Amino acid sequence: MERVGVLTGGGDCPGLNAVIRAVVRRAFQNNIKVVGIKNGWKGLVEADTVDLDLDSVSGILPKGGTILGTSRTNPYKKPEDIQKVIDNYKKLKLDALIAIGGEDTLGVANKLNKEKKGVNVVGCPKTIDNDLNATDYTFGFDTAVNIATEAIDRLHTTAESHHRIMVVEVMGRHAGWIAIHAGLASGSDVILIPEVPIDMDEVCDILKKRKDRGKSFSIVTVSEGAQFKAGQVVLKEEKLDSFGHVRLGGIGEILASEIEKRTGFETRTTVLGHIQRGGTPSAFDRFLATRFGVKAMDLVLAKKFGYMASLKGTDVTEVPIQDAVGTLKTVDMKLYELAKTFFG
Ligand code: F6P
Repeated sequence: MERVGVLTGGGDCPGLNAVIRAVVRRAFQNNIKVVGIKNGWKGLVEADTVDLDLDSVSGILPKGGTILGTSRTNPYKKPEDIQKVIDNYKKLKLDALIAIGGEDTLGVANKLNKEKKGVNVVGCPKTIDNDLNATDYTFGFDTAVNIATEAIDRLHTTAESHHRIMVVEVMGRHAGWIAIHAGLASGSDVILIPEVPIDMDEVCDILKKRKDRGKSFSIVTVSEGAQFKAGQVVLKEEKLDSFGHVRLGGIGEILASEIEKRTGFETRTTVLGHIQRGGTPSAFDRFLATRFGVKAMDLVLAKKFGYMASLKGTDVTEVPIQDAVGTLKTVDMKLYELAKTFFG
């Protein structure tokens, strides 16, 4: 092992720089050179790289985003692109590659390993959505939950002053993890997640009963991927991203106007959007990302290609990348039942 590449792909999240730093520090300990691949898989298609040393990763631990940049480029979309990835891996004389990403980025890593074309990849799981299988948590999630919780706390006070319903739309794609965690942590009165279709009668009933018991305001936390009963996902634009996913967003507005129409209660919407992905990582995410980065480099040293770092309980361990991709980890219904205790 002499030269190892590292890339960050997909949506950015707090903690990516902490992983990059840990990878470089562990590599330095083992006399390995690290080549940063810019902008995810796009950087390997274009051979766009930057050498990383101790200086380049100094001071980046608390910094959000990724110093390497990211993209949602899927090189498998064009046969010539995946060939460029393989050729450039060889041209750059890489012995291994660490792919830091979510389902899409790791999906590419998994496919490359399986095809056995000489590209040795290990994975590192990130996403604010926490929807990756085979790891208890991904880094980035804790920070997003903290940001959403703080925002909902702030909305509580203004909701109370104005006697309003506040609808808060959070990210999470097709999994309600951010909504359920931030919703419970902030004492939201209704939590709506993609795993359970929205029943408007039930939602309005909860809000009316709350009013009847003297509570003149309510907070409704809704996940961007939630759908109305027998309805369609609300799309922001009829657009797909480079990985082929629909762009979500907009459910909050529709939900708020439906609540107002059905109950007569004055209702406002806040869409937290990309604020949940920005800024400094929480201590939990810095700690987890650091452990994941060290583990990813250790997997490279052990030549355990096709594996990724994973959190099981309190241990950082390894699992086949294959186990993390393909199906989404969605919210456990037991957790949702628990959350219902606090509705209304
Ligand atoms: O996967 C992370 C995520 O932030 C989702 O929660 C959200 O649906 C999506 O990315 C937004 O993507 P983009 O950054 O392309 O707008």
